[in-house]
Amino acid sequence: MIPYYARFWCGDTLAMHYGFAEHATQPLAEQLINTNRFLVAAGEVAAGDRVLDAGCGIGGSAIWLASTLGAQVTGITISPKQLAVARAHAARAAVQEHTSFLLRDYTDTGLAGGSFDVFWAIESACYADNLGRFAREAWRVLAPTGRLVIADGFLEREPATEDEHGWYRSLLDGWVLSRLRSASAVVAALAAAGFRDIRVWDKSSDVLPSARALERRCRLSYHVTQLGQWMGLLDPILMRNNLAGQSQYQLLRAGVASYRVIAARK
Ligand SMILES: C[S@@+](CC[C@H](N)C(=O)[O-])C[C@H]1O[C@@H](n2cnc3c(N)ncnc32)[C@H](O)[C@@H]1O
Repeated sequence: MIPYYARFWCGDTLAMHYGFAEHATQPLAEQLINTNRFLVAAGEVAAGDRVLDAGCGIGGSAIWLASTLGAQVTGITISPKQLAVARAHAARAAVQEHTSFLLRDYTDTGLAGGSFDVFWAIESACYADNLGRFAREAWRVLAPTGRLVIADGFLEREPATEDEHGWYRSLLDGWVLSRLRSASAVVAALAAAGFRDIRVWDKSSDVLPSARALERRCRLSYHVTQLGQWMGLLDPILMRNNLAGQSQYQLLRAGVASYRVIAARK
C-alpha cells in the first residue's frame, strides 16, 4: 500500500498531505513542499528547534525539516509500517542524527513534558477521537515558549443534498475518519487546553489544485483498482480510498469542507 501510495501521489516528497499551490500549473511536488514551508512560517520553526511531528506518516515533513532547516525532529505514528518506512527514508537521506521515529499515540505520547519547541500536525489531528486529550498532550509536551501548528480538513457546513451526503459518507469510509470537525471546535479545544494567540488561515483555494489532481488520479485509476479488487489482487480499502479521493474534491468545491492552518502559542 505504501509503495503504491508513493508512486500514486507523493514521490520523493514522501508527503501524505495536500499541497498549497502558488499558481495553477505548479508541479505537485512543489505544492506539497509549500505546505511544509507555510507551517514553518506559521509556527516560526527555526534551525535547532525540537519538533514533534504528531502523525508523521512516512517521514516526509520530518526529513524535510531536518534536512532543510536543521531541526531536531521526533516523528510519531500509530502505524508500524509507516514507522519502518520513515526510518528507512531517514537513513537514505542521512538525517538519522536529526530525526527519530517512534510508535506512539499523540494523545498519550509518554514523552517528557516541556521537551519540544514545536508541535506539528499535518492532516493527523482529524483522526483524534478525543480532541481534548490531543490538545492537552500537545500543551504538555511543549516548552513554555512552544508553538503548535495544525493543517487539516474541516467541516464547513453540514451536507445538504443527496450528492453531498454521498461524498461525505464516502470520504469518511475511505479515509477511515469518524467525522470531520469544524475549525471552531478545534480552536475551542486548544483554548480550553491553555493555548493562546490562536490564528486560523483558510487555505481551501490553495489546496484545490492538489485536491483536483488527487480526484483525477483516483478517477483515472478507478477501473483498474476495481479490477484488481475483483481479482483479489488489491486490498479492498484501496477501492474505498479511491472513492474518497474522488469525493474530497467535490466536498471542497461545494464548500462542505474547507482546509485550514491553525497556529497557537503555549
Ligand atoms: C494523512 S497521514 C498524514 C501524515 C503526515 N503528517 C504527512 O503530512 O505526510 C495521517 C497520519 O496520522 C497518524 N495518526 C493517526 N492517529 C494517530 C494517533 N492517535 N497518534 C499518532 N499518529 C496518528 C497516522 O498514523 C498517519 O501517520
